[in-house]
Amino acid sequence: MDISNRTVFIAGGTSGIGRELARRFAAAGSTVVVGGRRTDLLDELAAEGFATVPVDVTDQDGVDRARDTVLAGHPGLDTIVTMSGVMLLEDLRDPAHFDTARKTVDTNLLGTIRVIDAFTPHLIGRGTGTIVTVTSGIGFLPFPPMPTYAATKAGVHAYSEALRAQLDGTGVEVCELVPPAVATTGEQARLNPKALDLDAFATEVMDLLGSDPTPREVLVKGVLTHRWAERDGTYDALVAQRSQALAMLPSRR
Ligand SMILES: NC(=O)c1ccc[n+]([C@@H]2O[C@H](COP(=O)([O-])OP(=O)(O)OC[C@H]3O[C@@H](n4cnc5c(N)ncnc54)[C@H](OP(=O)(O)O)[C@@H]3O)[C@@H](O)[C@H]2O)c1
Repeated sequence: MDISNRTVFIAGGTSGIGRELARRFAAAGSTVVVGGRRTDLLDELAAEGFATVPVDVTDQDGVDRARDTVLAGHPGLDTIVTMSGVMLLEDLRDPAHFDTARKTVDTNLLGTIRVIDAFTPHLIGRGTGTIVTVTSGIGFLPFPPMPTYAATKAGVHAYSEALRAQLDGTGVEVCELVPPAVATTGEQARLNPKALDLDAFATEVMDLLGSDPTPREVLVKGVLTHRWAERDGTYDALVAQRSQALAMLPSRR
């Protein structure tokens, strides 16, 4: 896609990867509307020059209201990015994990579907546009301390595949961004030294997104091990290796 002239809505752009991609799209010449719940961060982004809209993707009416606001101000909107997500640890030996599972599904999977549903009629009506979904290397290679997170990201992958097939012929393309671990804060860089630097990650992502045709999956080099583990026969060994991280769960300490 041509990243220099898009009108983009990023749901979940108040921090981390979403905020960095908002800045990258804007720097490339695109217009960006940022959505999220934290109004203080939306205010900061508005001060940078972004259009902003408050939205909680777990609230259907709120998503529809945000859609109306975005389209009223930006009728030429041609790109949406479903970045909103929570990444939560769960101990499956403790039934109390269910609340975390419900929140994770509601945000990561149903939230993605709500945002896509809200904007798809507009994009089909334009006859051209791009839906960028956001999964994770963990959707392809589980990280056992985050089971429902992995399930939702595998779900968004499968959903993206079906969505692409259903929108075939409409002019609306579906592109899945598959990040590996990315250090979005200094604290995360300290906790996971293997996490990619946000700046380097964003540069690689924008290079891939900007290619023509738009890739079906945006796969930076650092996620290829996860993405192709099953195909490459490394899956079992890598899951066993990643299971060592279960020691971080409170009940295992
Ligand atoms: N960083 C990584 O290592 C990594 C790796 C693979 C995939 N990912 C995925 O990349 C995406 C961004 O993650 P990040 O690392 O940049 O984390 P982050 O800084 O916590 O960003 C998450 C974003 O989601 C938004 N969000 C969360 N719940 C929401 C809700 N109910 N309604 C609307 N927005 C909501 C947050 O905005 P508000 O709090 O303002 O609502 C925030 O803008 C997520 O989907 C994540 O799963 C991240």
